[in-house]
Order: sequence, then structure tokens, then C-alpha cells
Amino acid sequence: MNAVKPQMRQTVSLGEIRTHFPALNRIHACCKVAYFDSPGGTQVPRAVARAMNDYLYHHNANTHWAYPTSSETDAIIADARQTLADFLNAAPDEIAFGQNMTSLTFHLARALGRTFKAGDEIIITELDHHANVDTWRALETERGVVIRVLPMNTESGQLELEQLSNLLNDKTKLVAVGAASNALGTINDIERAAQMAREAGALSFVDALHYAPHNLIDVKKSAAIFWRVLLTNFTVRTSAFFTGARNFSKQSNFLNLNPRRTFRPKESKPERKAMNQSSARQRRLIF
Ligand SMILES: Cc1ncc(COP(=O)(O)O)c(C=O)c1O
Repeated sequence: MNAVKPQMRQTVSLGEIRTHFPALNRIHACCKVAYFDSPGGTQVPRAVARAMNDYLYHHNANTHWAYPTSSETDAIIADARQTLADFLNAAPDEIAFGQNMTSLTFHLARALGRTFKAGDEIIITELDHHANVDTWRALETERGVVIRVLPMNTESGQLELEQLSNLLNDKTKLVAVGAASNALGTINDIERAAQMAREAGALSFVDALHYAPHNLIDVKKSAAIFWRVLLTNFTVRTSAFFTGARNFSKQSNFLNLNPRRTFRPKESKPERKAMNQSSARQRRLIF
């Protein structure tokens, strides 16, 4: 008989965790505080503040230029993209960063909306955060899209997924659902919803802001097309990202400047030459 190996579980004490967060040294009414915040952003540990300081003091630059701080900036962004891709089992060029989730979703909705016509349908839910509701509702006035609402079960606090099939039809373009409710903490069967959307020929957009910090997501195994995750929920400041953006960004009209630089394409020879000339000029000006 094989001996059963004891499982090693490494745990970090609460005291040790607190030492990383200066905000938790605060005393309120004689007691040390504990913050249960997540939606508005978690507290920031020393390592994150240090890394941000280091970047701002020593590397701060525009991207895509041929001088040291610019290429260091490119490398830091590429590294961040790779780290998040590993986290979700995605490819680095499927990760798109943005200002915050609401703005990113508005961008995506507007870009997708350019391919929708009056009478096309989008399904949103009664349980979702406004950032996953109003962003799609904007297409009602902009594109004449019809919005249908999937109700929630008031007993379980989950989505009434059995009713999804009644709402899906050949006009449905997208189903926007939340993986975990910010209001109730309940979890929805996202794979079932995404699979139903896929079978109806619709895209699916998952708000995973409150899901991702607690559950591993494997985008390769998922039927969902877009996932959105917010980095402020992971002790990082001011950034959010989508995944699933690569294939989509090739075919749709994201509002962007030309040439599009979102995924750091290889510069053409004339482009590279112009960049080098310009940065040589810049070096002459600086030194
Ligand atoms: C579930 C959920 N989705 C979206 C958002 C919006 O995120 P942001 O503030 O980055 O726009 C929030 C914010 O609290 C949220 O809780």
C-alpha cells in the first residue's frame, strides 16, 4: 500500500499579513481596524507602493521609444501582461489594460455596438452592478439595440438561469452576466450561461470583479468570451483589464488612435527609423 504523503499547507499569520499594510496600523475607538473593502479597492501593501514609487522615480516614460526608460516601461507592461495571462491561463495579447472597469466596458460596448443594428438584442441581469448594466443600456439610444433583463431569484440571490433560454433568440448578440454579486456575494453558474449564449450564437461578457480574487479562472476552458477583472481588488491601484480581447480587437472598431499600439505591434522599418531619429533628437536635447 502506498503511504499517503502529508499535505504541506503553508499559512501566513494574520499578524504577518498586517505588517504589509500600513493602513491597518490605524487605531479607531481604541481598536486596530479591519477593512472589508473590495469593490472600491483593497488596501495597498508596502510592496505595491514601493514598486509604484520605483517606477515613477526611475522609469517613468512614454511607451514604444528607443531610449532606456521607454523600453523599461515597455518591459514592465509586457511583464504585467504576462503575469495576468498566467493568472487566467490566457495569452499575454489577450490582456487589455484600462482605467477602470466601467470605462473599459463602455469602450467595449461602443466598439461592439458599431457592429450591432437596430433590433439586435442584449441580455443583462437584474443582479448585476450598474457597470455591467448601464454600459450596455447605452446602446439602446446609440444603436437602437433591445435590452432584455434576466431576473434574479429573490430566495437564492442567484440568477434565474432557467429563464435565459426564453430570452435568447437569433437576434441576441451578447449576454452580460456577473460571476459573483457585489451586493449579495452569491455566485452564478457562469459556464452554463456562457454555454447557452454560445449555442444561441451570442457573445458572453462576464463581470468577474468579485469572483476572481476568490476563484481561479481558466479562460481556455471557459465558454465565455470576455472576462473583466479589476486589479484594485488585488491590492493594486487604478487598473482593470479584460481578457478575450485579442480576436475581438482584430475585427471590431475600438476607439483608438492610428497607428493602433494596444498590443505593441512590431514597428515597420520606416516607423522604427522615424522613432530612432526622433529619440536621437531627444537625447541631443537632453544632454
Ligand atoms: C461587481 C462590480 N462590477 C463593476 C464595478 C465597477 O468597477 P470600476 O469602479 O472599476 O468601474 C464594481 C465596483 O464596485 C463592482 O463591484
